[in-house]
Amino acid sequence: MARSAIAEKIQKLREKIRYHEHRYYVLDEPEISDPEFDRLMQQLKQLETEHPGLITPDSPSQRVGGAPREGFVSVRHQRAMLSLENAYAYDELGEFDRRVREGAGRGSIEYVAEHKFDGLSISLQYEDGVLARGVTRGDGSTGEDVTANVRTIRAIPLSVDTTLLKKHGIGRDFEVRGEVIMTRKAFEELNRQQEEQGGKRFANPRNAAAGAVRVLDPTITASRRLGFYAYQLLVGGRVPVKNHSDALEALSRLKFKAGGDWEKCAGIDAVIRYCERWETKRERLPYQIDGIVIKVNSTALQEELGFTAKAPRWAIAYKYPARQETTVVKAIRVQVGRTGTLTPVADLEPVEVGGVTVSRSTLHNLDEIERLDVHVGDTVLIERAGEVIPHVVKVVKHGQDEKPFRMPEKCPECGSRIHKAEGEVAYRCVNAGCPAKRKESLLHFAGRHAMNIDGLGEKLVDQLVANGLVKDPADLYHLKLETLSNLERMAEKSAQNLLEEIEASQKNSVARLIYALGIRFVGERTAQLLAEHFGSLHRLAAASLEELTEVHEVGPKVAESIAEFFSERANRDLLKRLEKAGLRFEEKRARPKGTRLAGKAFVLTGTLEKWTRDEAQELIESLGGKVTDSVSKKTDYVVVGAEPGSKLDKARSLGVATLDEKAFGRLVGKS
Ligand code: IVH
Repeated sequence: MARSAIAEKIQKLREKIRYHEHRYYVLDEPEISDPEFDRLMQQLKQLETEHPGLITPDSPSQRVGGAPREGFVSVRHQRAMLSLENAYAYDELGEFDRRVREGAGRGSIEYVAEHKFDGLSISLQYEDGVLARGVTRGDGSTGEDVTANVRTIRAIPLSVDTTLLKKHGIGRDFEVRGEVIMTRKAFEELNRQQEEQGGKRFANPRNAAAGAVRVLDPTITASRRLGFYAYQLLVGGRVPVKNHSDALEALSRLKFKAGGDWEKCAGIDAVIRYCERWETKRERLPYQIDGIVIKVNSTALQEELGFTAKAPRWAIAYKYPARQETTVVKAIRVQVGRTGTLTPVADLEPVEVGGVTVSRSTLHNLDEIERLDVHVGDTVLIERAGEVIPHVVKVVKHGQDEKPFRMPEKCPECGSRIHKAEGEVAYRCVNAGCPAKRKESLLHFAGRHAMNIDGLGEKLVDQLVANGLVKDPADLYHLKLETLSNLERMAEKSAQNLLEEIEASQKNSVARLIYALGIRFVGERTAQLLAEHFGSLHRLAAASLEELTEVHEVGPKVAESIAEFFSERANRDLLKRLEKAGLRFEEKRARPKGTRLAGKAFVLTGTLEKWTRDEAQELIESLGGKVTDSVSKKTDYVVVGAEPGSKLDKARSLGVATLDEKAFGRLVGKS
């Protein structure tokens, strides 16, 4: 292929990838699956490896790059990054409005209300439409250059459409300010990982996001799945459009996530209604907000009002009351989890926090207890953030008891030995048949994100396990109406409902089932990726470590855990019984498949003339074959196009059959 044709192909691929990044990371409306996206990226990387002269810094393949640095360089902000004045009551918003109206000499002001993201503020500087620098707020006048790290955040465009800039009268050199955040989900997953891998938990998403931006190694930032919300657009330190709302709209068009459910409000009463509306709704947002930011919409009026030494006079932050309360620790108990982990839990003097009565709070592990220095009888500050279970923030007053908490030497549920692995924080019960583990596994299996069996709660599971009716999830599918209705507090109607729920769960996707099995390190997302990749539980169970690590985001540790799970005899038996019970083990395919290439594994390398890589892949899949990224002994054919990569060498060294384009054409019946 001529160089110009390759350049064009690369350009097209980049546009396609940018389009899908925007769909996924900004609009939250992906059109293609993760593996499909990875394939596009793989194609781009391959072409760029073959033609390194065509790599540009704004290529989507260039997000993570460069070695860890020694330290950060300080950069001065063109316009200071000020903070905001805070209001804690609606009266104070009224005061703010009065001051603005006085300054403006007008009766009513148009405001914009938007979410106050709880993250880390960042200034992104674009030169000639390309991201040149990312700088933290620092002390407001000078921040740290964290460019390599912010480049890894997929919601941040590496370049923008310059024709759009022109259309909106925005210069090619501009600055976007906004907040780097971590979603609750990413935060919980990170903490779960930290705990399982023996690391420290992060206190809240803000700390986790800030920590991830301020690390010297950008690969760490990349692994934390951060988000970014833009809230200010500047050119030469000034707002280049007539209204703040125009800036937010322009930012959206330039493919940023902007404002977060922002609204124009005619007057302060409308602002207050917006604040009220979001006070409870904010719980359901995927990210944490700690308030609402209110800004004067008109740029001219903003300029007229100006700044105090610390904050703009044209904006204010309304902070929601913190859902924190103090109470007394009555006891510290130990709970045994699904994997046998012993988790200390504080029994609290019941207290109402933001409308919910809280009587216990997890203390996570021994390290956390030591860090908090908490004892029975202490008065503690607890906090409820979103759906996350309440946690102890700190001890406000020590009680009489100075005896430190100790982990029990025997499992509180079954009396078996407790083991603490080298380098891990967690203590675990070693008994595979521990009833606590059984109960927790069942609860996990039935959970909302797993098999979603409504009605199978803690009390019922306790009874089922205690009476020996259910030992593992497969037993659920053999429960009889009579047995169930004989249980305590179980009317026939609810027993019937439960049986229907259990039956309905048989139709759940393979992804849900994989997650429900409760394999260590396999969260919802990983389960989804595994299901997409293998399409069947049998194929997943039979996968080698090498095949497992071919799955996007599955590293050696996760792969080992999966392989170990399926190598356990008891787990293989469980699978057999689940299959017999009628659970879905094969993912339904959208398109009916041909069988010409059934079960055959292909790897593509180099450029084909007749087909793009996507087309070749689709063709293979439509005939029942599959395409993987790397060559292994299990590969049946390597299809070799022009300028093949190292995969050809690998195929030869492993003795895997290779096909040139003609031979491939014959094989698929398209010669
Ligand atoms: S505007 C001069 N808008 O809150 C105005 N800030 O307490 C600059 N923040 O440092 C800020 N969400 O990190 C603005 N929608 C939003 C925001 C927001 C969060 C943060 C920002 C700022 C801090 C001030």
